[in-house]
Amino acid sequence: MASDLPRLDIEAFRGEAHRLVDWMADYLARVGELPVQPNADPGTVRRAIPAAAPALGEPFENVMHDFERIIMPGMTHWGHPGFFAYFPANVSPPSILAEMLTATLGAQCMSWNTSPAATELEQAMMEWLRQMIGLPEGFAGVIQDTASTATLVALISARDQALTENPGARLEDLTVYASEEAHSSVMKGARMAGYRPDRVRLIPADELFALRAEALEAAVVADRAAGRVPACIVATVGTTSSTGLDPVPAIVPIARGAGAWLHVDAAWAGSAAIVPEMRWIFDGVAEADSVVFNPHKWLLVNFDCTAYFVRNREALFRSFATSPAYLQAAHDDRVVNYRDWGIQLGRRFRALKLWFVIRTYGVEGLQAMLREHIRLGKLLAGWVEADADFELMAPSPLGLVVFRHRPGGAVPEGAGLDTLNERLLARIHAAGKIMLTQTRLKGRYAIRLALGHLTTTEAQVREAWELIRAAARET
Ligand SMILES: Cc1ncc(COP(=O)(O)O)c(C=O)c1O
Repeated sequence: MASDLPRLDIEAFRGEAHRLVDWMADYLARVGELPVQPNADPGTVRRAIPAAAPALGEPFENVMHDFERIIMPGMTHWGHPGFFAYFPANVSPPSILAEMLTATLGAQCMSWNTSPAATELEQAMMEWLRQMIGLPEGFAGVIQDTASTATLVALISARDQALTENPGARLEDLTVYASEEAHSSVMKGARMAGYRPDRVRLIPADELFALRAEALEAAVVADRAAGRVPACIVATVGTTSSTGLDPVPAIVPIARGAGAWLHVDAAWAGSAAIVPEMRWIFDGVAEADSVVFNPHKWLLVNFDCTAYFVRNREALFRSFATSPAYLQAAHDDRVVNYRDWGIQLGRRFRALKLWFVIRTYGVEGLQAMLREHIRLGKLLAGWVEADADFELMAPSPLGLVVFRHRPGGAVPEGAGLDTLNERLLARIHAAGKIMLTQTRLKGRYAIRLALGHLTTTEAQVREAWELIRAAARET
């Protein structure tokens, strides 16, 4: 039956693959000429795709044709030089090539036995990354798909640790703490891990958007006095809206005193810790129980690739280890089985792209890139500050610049100013050249510009700033 299927035989595959590589190189070379985001109405792509699967196979060229015709016009180009939205999801040539190999090998890397090289390369890469970001020996690393998953893993580990170490404690007694500026994945993870939503404390942040340690301490003391069990404190190093840096050294003793798990979410900013003079952003992190950062955000590794480090791997196994008869294999007692280190069983071979990227650029090459992005962020922040019609909304220590338009400083605080900036963002986007995102800081509408692509240059940042100013003049 299977032999009757129309298919790309190996020689046809070879030809298509060569053509595809040309397509890929052309795309990378010309992506800046495309609109950064599509001007698509909801449903356009959906309508162009038949409602049911084709009964008969088609030539590959038809599929490729429709990819160009239907899919490409509906894509947002994350690798576009004008893409400054969200945080970046990086692409780089060595990472793309590694992804091609990963897809070709098609390995499912749940256990050492299911691909020894994948497991051992992952161990080695996590060791390289641990050293690169300056975490002490003893932290063990595992690749997760996203920071959201890693934070959920931390919250589950913390839950199980609290229940184990506090006999008699019930799930509804457990409390979780994070800054009011923490990423939504913390609240979502807490909910999924079974914590009661009203036991998740969002601690006020200061004027620099960093968690107030004294408010955290007060909340922990109050909860303990009420008989609750502080299970997890999440500190954010580099908040999504404003690069807020929670004071980890001050949080460590609070976590220790309360017996709570300390998880550090450095999803985007953590990559900067590989730069020696930026290592300070990780002050105190060596004392945490777990740390997450995303090489796919700022270390040139294609999405998805999240590095999760944990101090006590036994705490991971307590929550996640599994060994049914059908998964057991000869060397289980001597090897790492990453299926025991997280939620999913099946795992992609993600370590390969890390290896390709780190070897291609070298640690110094990656450091140089990060330094340049940080420099460009400060440069842009300086331009914003120097312009009387704009206001910088947060410090820019790492390449995220958050600002708003406030012509002549004259428009009063409130809905009018928010609307003005919403209109400005819509106008910027209508031109199709750059893409930014918005947020709210202390209730105020603000526009975010995040740097972080391999190819970002000062000229592009200057061009983006000129586009923003020109749109502001017309708004
Ligand atoms: C601070 C922080 N934590 C977590 C996340 C979620 O990342 P992911 O998409 O990898 O789940 C983000 C995303 O931007 C983030 O900025």
